[in-house]
Amino acid sequence: MERALSVLYTGGWAARLWALVPGATRVALIEHTLRIAGREKGRPPLRIAFASDLHLGPTTPREVLDAAFARIHSTRPDVLALGGDYVFLGATKERVHELQERVRQVSAPVKLAVLGNHDFWARPERLEDCLTQAGVRVLVNDSVRLPPPHDDVAVVGLDDPLTSRRITDKIALQEGVDAALARVADVPIKIALCHSPDGYPEVKGRGVQLLLCGHTHGGHIALPGYRPLWIPGPHGRLWPYGRHDVDGLTVFVSRGVGGSLVPMRTYAPPDVALFTIDGGEP
Ligand SMILES: [Fe+2]
Repeated sequence: MERALSVLYTGGWAARLWALVPGATRVALIEHTLRIAGREKGRPPLRIAFASDLHLGPTTPREVLDAAFARIHSTRPDVLALGGDYVFLGATKERVHELQERVRQVSAPVKLAVLGNHDFWARPERLEDCLTQAGVRVLVNDSVRLPPPHDDVAVVGLDDPLTSRRITDKIALQEGVDAALARVADVPIKIALCHSPDGYPEVKGRGVQLLLCGHTHGGHIALPGYRPLWIPGPHGRLWPYGRHDVDGLTVFVSRGVGGSLVPMRTYAPPDVALFTIDGGEP
């Protein structure tokens, strides 16, 4: 199917068509503050910019990517977190170079990323290398403690539950997440990053306070009232977009930025998010 779509979208006409629709290239900035009681007094607020599903390719207008990265720059984040699906229809050298330059120009002192299903369908090694050269640490069932003054926070990156080539079954994913969590067991605040909200079962009840994900595109094509026609995955159908506080764990599902199969979104506007982690009552 991707080969057929590559032919269909040759020349980039689809993205140019999207860009012609008034207002369609706007990218929303969604802001939330998460107050975590365990955060020590005196720690400065931690600002995490989160962007997912950039989908560089023939169905994402350059104007949408420009708007998304302008939003990210405006947040002046301590951490840039990327949720995967960096390309659509292949990790070509041009797309990888553009991705690398856009990410490199973000001035966040810490940049972290996971990979998504479209990355595993493309060239995950090339994308991982590109992100690494842009100063990003790619976390695939891995974890990292943030540097001071935010060293009371760890970020755990999950493998993509749907498509990873590094896992073959559910047990392997659980073992990978177990190992990643064990490495930061002594860090009081844990934030998980996973391409899909279907990573939720792996982190619920495991001391993780925030799960950041994308993948759903908010339905991509939705009806008035932001009602998706179809969403992939059971947890995506439960939480197609937005913030959901569930049993002490905050799940945030971004609608993402770019296009995939269809070069247009309806009632599923692109977004990037800023989460501010602060102390105080939750
Ligand atoms: Fe996507």
